[in-house]
Amino acid sequence: MFSHKKLRDDFSKFFEETNHKLVPAIPLVPQNDPTTLFTGSGMQQLVPYLLGEIHPLGKRLYNIQPCFRSQDILEIGDNRHTTFFEMMGNWSLGDYFKKEQLRWFWQFLTEVLGFDKKRLYVTVFAGDQKNNLAPDEESKKIWLDLGVEESHIFSYGPEKNWWSRAGVPDNMPEGEPGGPDSEVFYDFGEGLKLHENSSFKDHKCHPNCDCGRFMEIGNSVFMQFKKTSSGFQELPSKNVDFGGGLERILAALNNNPDVFLTDVYLPIIKSLEKTLFKSYEKEDDKRKMRVIADHLKGAVFLIKTGVYPSNKERGYYLRRLLRRITVKTYQLKGKTVEAKDLFAAVEEIVNIYQGIYFESKDLDEIKNVVKDEIDRFNKTLNKGLQILSKIEKPDGKQVFDLYQSYGFPKELTEELLKEKGLNFDQKQFDQEFEKHRQLSRTASAGMFKGGLADHSEKTLRYHTATHLLHQALFDVLGENVRQEGSHITGERLRFDFFSSIKPGDSDIQRIEAIINEKINQGLNVNFVLMPKNEAYKIGAKSFFREKYPDTVKVYYIGESIDNAYSKEFCGGPHVKNTKEIGKIKIYKFEKIGANIYRIYAK
Ligand code: ALA
Repeated sequence: MFSHKKLRDDFSKFFEETNHKLVPAIPLVPQNDPTTLFTGSGMQQLVPYLLGEIHPLGKRLYNIQPCFRSQDILEIGDNRHTTFFEMMGNWSLGDYFKKEQLRWFWQFLTEVLGFDKKRLYVTVFAGDQKNNLAPDEESKKIWLDLGVEESHIFSYGPEKNWWSRAGVPDNMPEGEPGGPDSEVFYDFGEGLKLHENSSFKDHKCHPNCDCGRFMEIGNSVFMQFKKTSSGFQELPSKNVDFGGGLERILAALNNNPDVFLTDVYLPIIKSLEKTLFKSYEKEDDKRKMRVIADHLKGAVFLIKTGVYPSNKERGYYLRRLLRRITVKTYQLKGKTVEAKDLFAAVEEIVNIYQGIYFESKDLDEIKNVVKDEIDRFNKTLNKGLQILSKIEKPDGKQVFDLYQSYGFPKELTEELLKEKGLNFDQKQFDQEFEKHRQLSRTASAGMFKGGLADHSEKTLRYHTATHLLHQALFDVLGENVRQEGSHITGERLRFDFFSSIKPGDSDIQRIEAIINEKINQGLNVNFVLMPKNEAYKIGAKSFFREKYPDTVKVYYIGESIDNAYSKEFCGGPHVKNTKEIGKIKIYKFEKIGANIYRIYAK
């Protein structure tokens, strides 16, 4: 079995040798990114730089980024979808372009990893007439020059060969970067009879066929456009954004399309087999065990990032993961399983990533959170399932009652009913839901759209205001304030922080007054690049959950870095002068945990 440690080493070595600098991965919960809940791709932290900001580490970058794709929760169970995954990425910020990128990735696959060329297929962009985007003839030629046979090169339209965080060109909001891409697929071979056994058997198989014969193992995006009100505009520089799923590349290296049989999942599956007395070989049980393994890993990573189960936003996803684990183990065993029965699997997860993302001392906290949520949910699970089994014609109100009284998430009830071929009236559920407004609306309905660039004027203003707020908190509450999180939309800013002193009304008023005073002073906003240690020494504020590279970008507000009011590790972008912000009002202040507070301002 090809080990994930070796794959990591091979990848790093290859990109170090081609003069790329390692950008540390960002936390799974990104900071100061306007509308996204979770880090969903390696490029997320690079959006400002793809749009033209200067990166402190230069123009050639690489990393391995933990990602969580919340929209995939209900797809888990097949051999390749996972909520948590790691993306191996490399970037050119206006340095090299298509020729180097495709050659390097090809070399990495065939020379470093030793893939058989006959098993690799590539795809290129066929163009999009509607948006006036030309076919990518250049990439096709590069692949041919590299020795890829014409029969292994396929062209697809924007649904398959265009990448932006919002998807196809038509769905992109103004300001979002994107471009045509070129993917590489691994062919698990006709011998597996995947296509013949699938519901697609009457169609001709091809790399993007859904039968499972082919698996995408890497995507080179040629980020060269920005969406504007009048169509697509060239970005200041032609960039490369590459991403390849670590788990999928491992599966291809194992020549087995099941990612759950790679060494980043197998120990978890083995542990579940032992504790649940179930066999992964059995088709019915396999799907459920995959869900449990996936969700448990996702939960462990979210907890490590500082997420707690709740009814809102990120916490709600963590809650859903843990509750779905509880339900799946119930379905497997026919009785409830205690949280501690899953601890062995939790230990395996921490063990797989020991020294990469976890230390043994993380275990206690992780187990506590898992135990709290699962044991609590277990108590109501039995009751709820009993009621559910008696429902023959479900209506939205019953489903809402299950939610209200037994904590059954709507999606979960929907899934359990679907297994019996039943549906319920969503509208009625939503009406009931509205009636009980004490619960946040985001707990059930559409979450944020997820990860779109928003460099609108409003967002920039809130971003700079957040830096002022951060410093004002220190001014008023003292040095033990610690940033816990920050979230900006076009409508408001939100800031979470730790403070051992409970802020009173007068403190909040003072904080607001200081921010407005600094805004009125019309201070300039600038940045400098400097060594990380230097930045710590001059007291620049950082986010303790984030790892920073040796050279960092420090934004300061004031005439010079020496006499600046605020100094902070940050990628930008910001307004040029605080006057642009306008008046700020703190309209909500609440306690969200032990010594943790949340401020909303607009
Ligand atoms: N950002 C590209 C992706 O996520 C590489 O596929």
